Amino acid sequence: MCGIVGYAGRRPGKPIILDGLRRLEYRGYDSAGIVLVEDDGLESVRAVGNLDALFATCGQSTSEATVGLGHTRWATHGRPSDENAHPHDDCTGRVSIVLNGIVENYKELRAQLTERGHTLTSETDAEVVAHLIEERIGGGLTTAVRETVGLLDGHYALCAVSADEPEIVVGTRDQAPLIVGVGDDEMFFASAIPAFMAHTRTVIFLEDGDVVTLRAEGAEFCDVGGAPLVREETVVQWDDDAAEKGGYETFMLKEIHEQPAALRDTLAGRLLEDGTVDLSEVGIGDEMLRRVRRVFIVACGTSYNAGLIVSYAIEQLARVPVQIDVASEFRYREPVFGPDTLVIGITQSGETADTLAAMKLAREAGSPVLALCNVMGSQATRDADYVLFTRAGLEIGVAATKTHTSQVAALLLLALRLAWARGAQSEAELKRLGHELRAVPELVQQLLERDTAVNAIAQRYHDERFFLYLGRGMGFAVCLEGALKLKEISYIPTEAYAAGEMKHGPIALLDKESPVVVVADDSPIFPKLVSNIEEVRARGADVIAVATDGNEVIGELSRDVLWVPRCDHHLAPILTVVPLQLLAYHIATIKGLNVDQPRNLAKTVTVE
Ligand code: M6R
Repeated sequence: MCGIVGYAGRRPGKPIILDGLRRLEYRGYDSAGIVLVEDDGLESVRAVGNLDALFATCGQSTSEATVGLGHTRWATHGRPSDENAHPHDDCTGRVSIVLNGIVENYKELRAQLTERGHTLTSETDAEVVAHLIEERIGGGLTTAVRETVGLLDGHYALCAVSADEPEIVVGTRDQAPLIVGVGDDEMFFASAIPAFMAHTRTVIFLEDGDVVTLRAEGAEFCDVGGAPLVREETVVQWDDDAAEKGGYETFMLKEIHEQPAALRDTLAGRLLEDGTVDLSEVGIGDEMLRRVRRVFIVACGTSYNAGLIVSYAIEQLARVPVQIDVASEFRYREPVFGPDTLVIGITQSGETADTLAAMKLAREAGSPVLALCNVMGSQATRDADYVLFTRAGLEIGVAATKTHTSQVAALLLLALRLAWARGAQSEAELKRLGHELRAVPELVQQLLERDTAVNAIAQRYHDERFFLYLGRGMGFAVCLEGALKLKEISYIPTEAYAAGEMKHGPIALLDKESPVVVVADDSPIFPKLVSNIEEVRARGADVIAVATDGNEVIGELSRDVLWVPRCDHHLAPILTVVPLQLLAYHIATIKGLNVDQPRNLAKTVTVE
């Protein structure tokens, strides 16, 4: 949530910072701003709305300033407005800051600052930081930031510039992302790697409490007490093209189409030619997997849905009990677990505050914690005992697509390895499943080629005011994901229900106006689902089924069918979700909505 860019170099910083913001816009798009350290002081511009508004306000003017900051905001404290947009200045206009996260004690600090004669002009928690730095600036910007950090409670990343030290940018973080990019005679701060990927792939990951001073020549690290620190450089592999749309109209569509490659990369080297699974890179040996008595999955949103899907496969294949909870509930419900519970935190970004807190709680209780994550160096990967990476590449569309199917694939690998280690299935059966999983990326490729049929259904139903999604078992979990996709990008209310529960309430919603999407792949529970579909039809509602090629029963029962290729039912969720992603996508685009930036949302939710 919120994107920060900082630059200290020899080139004019403005275009570099604006380009960095454009690449971080997925993190928030309520308002944006930039501050440049000019010869005669600080020059700031802020604008409400997405980056187009900022570009319209400041895009034409040229600047030779080689140091500056930028920010794209997702509002936490204070509505989106020019005053609440970052950067925030102190009373003198000689210090300016940008912040991502929350300063929890800002009300108290604000009252104290006001008593001491400061005039604060915004409703934000961030502005207090500029004024606290102002009070301490006599010792220089780095010292002032260090001393200010000691006064703040919360979780945040912030960067500051001062007109009195025009060659430096100072940044610090506490439980919120901030990384350094090491260029050739230029240095960057950013919330995420894409911001500076066009200039360098050499990255330094900060630890909580690091205070970093950037100049064109390099970075100096110290702790809050001022003691110098040494931090390692890492070279990252991401491709800069990932931050471009590559000929697609939107990032979401591009990412939907990248799923075969993301799946292949996620399985590569882990799912071997003989159908067995090798997860030795994760460091969890079979001995440890045999000791696991329970698995607890914690995650939010789409990552939760991936966890729910595979919770069925883990229980069915490995015969280990699985519990799953949304991280925001888990962390406050005093969950019971211990050293024999494997806790899996699923988070594509590795930054989601609730998931990180849930993982921390589990570690404190002595449970081994595995992070399933897509972002190298992210907080989740540092907090966990074990890390399993999805290799989906950068995902920019706010609606998660390729990271979701990659999560399901990676978790299925874990389910297969767990089953193998525990001897819960025959080796022949597990190898058969392994071979089937190897074929899934190609099946997804074939499925994407059926998009015209999905678009035709979207054309027919895009004006509907409500969609009900029904499924059973893993199909129910796929329904949750399909319904989430539709509501978040098209703003059409949706409800996803376990089909067997329909008679206990939701059936009252059915009428001729409300289409019902049924995920009806060929699983052992399919015959039960047929009865549920009959109940829907009896109320006059249209059924749009997602079903396996050649299933004649479904063909007769449904008004429309989105066909998917045949595969083992444990793996089918990777296929059945794809037409639901496309259905949501087409309905939203027919309605003229911005699918990459749905209202009120941000890609990473770094606040509770
Ligand atoms: O980065 P995470 O996987 O932890 O994000 C969790 C959710 O915020 C995320 O999956 C969200 O629900 C999706 N953007 C929805 O498409």
